[in-house]
Parts: sequence; C-alpha cells; structure tokens
Amino acid sequence: GLPERVTIYEVGARDGLQNEAAIIPVEVKAELVRRLLAAGLPAVEATSFVHPRWVPQLADAEQLMTALHDQIGDAGRDLPVLVPNERGLDRALALGLRHVAIFGSATETFAQKNLNRGLDEQYAMFEPVVARARDAGLDVRAYVSMCFGDPWEGPVPIDQVVAAGRRLLDLGAGQLSIGDTIGVGTAGHVTALVGAFVEAGVPVERLALHFHDTYGQALSNVQAGLRAGVTTYDASAGGLGGCPYAKSATGNLATEDLVWLLDGLGVEHGVDLAALVQTSTWLAGHLGRPSPSAVVRALAGQ
Ligand code: HMG
Ligand code: MG
Repeated sequence: GLPERVTIYEVGARDGLQNEAAIIPVEVKAELVRRLLAAGLPAVEATSFVHPRWVPQLADAEQLMTALHDQIGDAGRDLPVLVPNERGLDRALALGLRHVAIFGSATETFAQKNLNRGLDEQYAMFEPVVARARDAGLDVRAYVSMCFGDPWEGPVPIDQVVAAGRRLLDLGAGQLSIGDTIGVGTAGHVTALVGAFVEAGVPVERLALHFHDTYGQALSNVQAGLRAGVTTYDASAGGLGGCPYAKSATGNLATEDLVWLLDGLGVEHGVDLAALVQTSTWLAGHLGRPSPSAVVRALAGQ
C-alpha cells in the first residue's frame, strides 16, 4: 500500500524564485515564507547562501532571514537554506539558522556548471560543511542533481546516481533529495532508481524526491515514489520557477497539484490547500504572470 502520511518540503521561495526573472522585494519574500508556514507546510526552504553573482535573485539572503528571525530557533519551524561551502555555512551560522542543505551533482558537467568544481572536488567542498554543521547541532539535507538526465551528458546511469547519493549521505547528511533537475524522468525510472538506492542499503525513509515538471511527468513520478515507500516530496507553491526565456517552461512540481493528488489518494500531508492557492494567486500578482499550476487555475477561478 501507499504511505499513510507524507512530508511536503516546500522549495518555492528558493528553487522557484531563483529562476524567476522578476526582482521580488525582500518584504514580499518574507511574506511568502510566512504564508507558506501558515498554510501548514512543515519545511519551507527559504533561500540560498551562495555567491550573489551566481544567483542574483537570492542576493538578499541575509536580509530575508533577518526579517524572518522570529521563525528561527526552538520556537520556530524548519526554514532550511542552501549552503554550498564553508563560506555559505558561516553566513547561515551567523544568523542562528538550524537547517542547511548541500547540493551535489551526479554528473561531472553539472558539477562544473553549478559549483565550479569537478565531481570529486564537490565532495571535498562539502565534507567540512557537513562536519561543522553537525558539530553545531544543525540538521543537514543533501541534494543530488541530474539524477534522470543531464542536458549536456544525456541519460544518467542509475549506478552513477546511487554512487553520488551514497557519498553525500556518507558525509553525514540525514536526508537525500533525488533531483530530476530538468524534469525528464518517468515513473518506471523512478521505481528503478529508488529500488537501486534501497538495494544499496539506503533506508527509504532517508530519501526525498524532487521533481521538476518540465515534461508534465511530476505527478506520475510522485505516484511511483509513493508506491516505492518514499515519504518526502519537494514541491513549489504555484509551480514557481522555470526558464525566464521560455514562457511555456514550468518549474518544480506545484505544491497545489501534489496536495490535490495526495487528497485523492487519502495520503495525509497537513497542508491547507485553500490558503496555498490564495498565496500563489497573491504571488502571481508580484511576478506579473499567472501560476502554471492547473490546480491553482481551477480553484482560483471559482
Ligand atoms: P567559486 O567562484 O569557485 O568560489 O564558486 P570560490 O570558492 O573560488 O570563491 C570566490 C569568491 O566567492 C571569494 O570571494 C569567496 O569568498 C566568495 P573573494 O575572496 O574573491 O572576494 N564566495 C562566497 N560569497 C558568498 N557566499 C558564498 C561564497 N562562496 C564563495 N557561499 C560557488 C563556487 C559554490 C560559491 C558557486 O559556484 C556558487 O555560488 N554556486 C551556486 C549555484 C546555485 O546556487 N545553483 C542553484 C542551486 S542548485 C539547484 O537549484 C538544484 C536543486 O534544486 C535540485 C535539483 O533540481 O536537482 C537543489
Ligand atoms: Mg530544483
């Protein structure tokens, strides 16, 4: 059977907004995060402590997390941030943040393009980040990207993905998010990949699935993940993100679409769909374009 309950890990403020062409004021970002928390999302990834030249959309990371300070700490909720290196971790520690995520690649080319490092060099960069974060009592998630296909290298062998993911977990990360960065994966591939991780000794509870909906396969892929026992799914409110140069391209799986599927399957998630749709509709006003999510369009039009 399917899991009774899953965790939705919201990435809209980070993965979504890092890809939006529009410049969003920091006050609007803070309100977005607060609304997502209020809608019941248990983990809201807020921003990235990366080099501002690499991701100018998130150059206000310090200001945003300062604005959200009352949400951080024992009384607060999970507001993870991306940290690629020790410099990023230092910035997160200086603000008292408690949840960080490193992000590795399964392919050599994307490691170079995204991190300016080779495959082996990426682990060397992450190793002290994870060690120091854990010493400081932080929770560490690891992403592995290009798990289904890579725009430069084509299809990515399952063994290569499992090897990369295991190395990231072996560094000491608690959870591994398996990323279909370009949204080319299909359900059978999900089943095979999750099965290969489990066969390699990784407990299914430590896996999360991160789908981009470029080819419209994300919901079908979630179903394959559910059948394989995966209980954490990344999604972005309203399906934020996508390429600013291709209007029809979509971003992450929309959180509303995921919630609609889970409700239909009777899988618990704890998220208030109406509040989420209101949030995505409100944000669409700031982005200057409607949400690409079918569920948002259907419910907002009522
Ligand atoms: P680099 O140029 O090799 O950095 O970039 P460096 O280590 O050589 O340092 C150069 C300068 O940058 C130094 O300054 C550092 O202090 C500074 P200088 O001494 O010259 O004045 N610097 C920093 N400043 C602020 N914050 C930092 C930082 N690090 C160095 N953290 C680096 C290497 C990793 C920094 C760069 O490649 C980078 O920032 N990459 C981030 C790319 C990114 O954010 N991509 C999007 C997220 S991944 C994703 O979206 C996929 C995911 O969603 C899953 C999926 O879909 O598959 C997670
Ligand atoms: Mg992503």
